[in-house]
Parts: sequence; structure tokens; C-alpha cells
Amino acid sequence: MHAEPMLARRTQIMGASAIREILKVASRPGMISLAGGIPAAESFPMGIIREITATALATYGADALQYGLTEGFPPLRNALAEYLKPKGIITDGQDLLITSGSQGVLDGLGKILIDPASRVAVETPTYLGALQAFTPYEPRYVQIETDDHGMLPDALEAALARDPVRFVYLVPNFQNPTGRTLSHARRVAIAAIIQRYDTLLVEDDPYGDLRYRGTPQSPLKALAPDHVVYVSTLSKVFAPGLRIGFCLAPEPIRRWLVLAKQGVDLHTSTFNQALAAEYLRAGHLRRHLPRIIGLYRPRQRALLDAMERFFPPAFTWTRPDGGMFVWAQGLRGMDMQAVNRRAIERGAAFVPGTFFFARPGDGRETLRLNYTMADEQTLFRAIEVLGRVFEEVLAQGHP
Ligand SMILES: Cc1ncc(COP(=O)(O)O)c(C=O)c1O
Repeated sequence: MHAEPMLARRTQIMGASAIREILKVASRPGMISLAGGIPAAESFPMGIIREITATALATYGADALQYGLTEGFPPLRNALAEYLKPKGIITDGQDLLITSGSQGVLDGLGKILIDPASRVAVETPTYLGALQAFTPYEPRYVQIETDDHGMLPDALEAALARDPVRFVYLVPNFQNPTGRTLSHARRVAIAAIIQRYDTLLVEDDPYGDLRYRGTPQSPLKALAPDHVVYVSTLSKVFAPGLRIGFCLAPEPIRRWLVLAKQGVDLHTSTFNQALAAEYLRAGHLRRHLPRIIGLYRPRQRALLDAMERFFPPAFTWTRPDGGMFVWAQGLRGMDMQAVNRRAIERGAAFVPGTFFFARPGDGRETLRLNYTMADEQTLFRAIEVLGRVFEEVLAQGHP
């Protein structure tokens, strides 16, 4: 059958993902990949999962296997309400919505908030998966400038003063791709701005718990509760394959998200929600989190030490206090897509940063490095290879 003519116009802007091609090549045997963005398999709490599988069945019986509420399994919503309290986010669980990963929230938000040509404000650079979720709904992205402390409040205010946006999207902690964290002063300023301009902000926070040092910052949700959709996930602190994400949204956003989700999957896997409820309720997350951090902190240290040693002095990079990524910037004019192809020939891969910019062609000289999936020696070797490739490219005078 000739299916092309049947495809909706929307598919034309969805496009093939170049990054998927890179990840495919990067996962070839023998390749050291710093391109992925997934948790280490060793971080999964296998023993705990075995234990809570039995507890969940004993506690919830057939309810753990039955169809459930679109809003989510009530014991999980209650457990999440307790989990959010120390972060300064107050909910009784009724206004929480459990989704199939936080990616499920991002798609739902696109569906209910974006019309063709709606303005959506995003950080420069931003999370690629958010762009993939929003783009099919045909927004016009407004790129808001950032620096080492995250989004610049003045730049956001200038954009909002020019024209309203449907929402602002940002990742406040250990951002994907840069690893940057929004400073407390900026959170206060941004909370004031969105309240003044009566603007909705989507706070996507998958990495906040992966803090290796320093003090946690107040979520924007705690500073401007009526204007913020707080989005998070257990993917980075439990197991991503279980697909447990959640959001806390003001009415009527929450009500429309529930209706949108009904049409997608009725509800998130009840059994997986029961496991997540037990993981939180019995204190397993609190006990297991230091193990995940204990795995990632030395990996990040090894990566940063190797970068110090092997990367050209003209390069700059972030030194995040947590999360899963380091962001580097080469010389202006460098094309990191071409450099990555050369690096792959030598057995090491990264993600060219340009994919994380809403405006095509921006950020050609940038790159994202992930350090969660390889041990310290492997990270050292990968950075040694990349450092050599960068030096070669610079020496050949075509950056
Ligand atoms: C910023 C950000 N948001 C959302 C997600 C999606 O996570 P999940 O759908 O597994 O909850 C990711 C995953 O890498 C992410 O980095």
C-alpha cells in the first residue's frame, strides 16, 4: 500500500530524529558513548523491586492489576503528596495526575495548550524531548537567553512584555542538556514575573533529587503555586522502564490533562503505580538515593578531571552539582556534528548541542556529555579520544 498520502500534515514537521541516528551508531559494540542520557542499569534497586513486587500484590491484591482512575492510583498519589512536602510543595494528592513518564505530561500540555503559531518560551538550549513533544502542535518558540545560573529573568520579562506566551517551559535543576541549576534569586524573580504577567510556567524537574552537593533550591511551584505546572518523574530515582511520571497543575489545566490522557492510554500501568507507591511509602527511595548519587558523583568527577587534562584550553564547560550531564562549548565556528562523526570513527561519541536549540542551526559549537553509563576508566578513555579529536580539528584550522 502507498501510505504516504494518508499521513496527516502534522507528520511533516515531526521529522526523523537525527539524534536517534547518533544514538544508534553510538551503541555499536566497541564504541564508548557519552551520547546517551539514561540512568546506569546498576542504579536500579533490583532487590527492593523483588521485595515490593510481593508486598504490592499482598497489599493491593487484584486492585493492582485492574483498570484504574485516569488521575492515578490513589496510594501513589498519597505517597507522592508526602514526598513533595519537604520540597515545599503542598498537595493532598487529589490534584496530582500520574502519567506514563513525565514525557506523557509534556505531550498532554502540548495538546491542550498549543495552537498553530502559539508562542511558547523555552530556555536556550532546552530539553530536546520537550521540543519533540510540543513541535507537532506547531508552536512558535521564543528562545530565552540563559547563563550559568539558568534563565535570565530580564530576558523572560522582555519577551513577555513584547507578546504573551501560552507557557514558559524550563528545567530548573541540573538541566538537560547543560547541567545548570536556576539560582534562588532567579527563581524568586521569575516567580514574580509570571505572576505579574499572569503567565503559566511548566517546571520540569526530573533531576532535582540527584544533587551531589549544596542545598536544594525551592521549586518555582512553591513560590508561585497558581501559575506553575510542576512536572517530575521516578525515572531517574527508581526505574525509567516503569514509566511513572506525574504533575501538579492548577485547575483547569489538570482537568484538561486528565481528559487528554483518557484518549491516550486511559491510565498509567496500575501495577507499576502500585510498585512506585510501595517504593515511596516504605522509605526505599530515601534509602536508595544515596546509592545512586554514590555511583554518579565519582563518574562526574572522573569526567571533569579528564576534561581538564585533555580538552583544548579554549573550551569551556559546566561543573554541575548533580544530575547526569556536562555541557561544553568549543570555539565559535566549530561544527560539532562534523567533529562527532570524526570522533565516532575513533570509537567515542557525544551529542552535538545544536539539537537542543529551538532555532535550527544555533549552538553548532556546543556538545552534551553524559557520564552516568560508563565507569571512571572508560570515561577517562573517552575524554582522551575526544580531546585528541578536538586538538586535531583545531590544528587543521577548520573548526
Ligand atoms: C528534562 C527532562 N524531562 C523529561 C524527561 C522524560 O523522562 P520520563 O518520561 O522518563 O519521565 C527527561 C528524560 O530524560 C528529561 O531529561
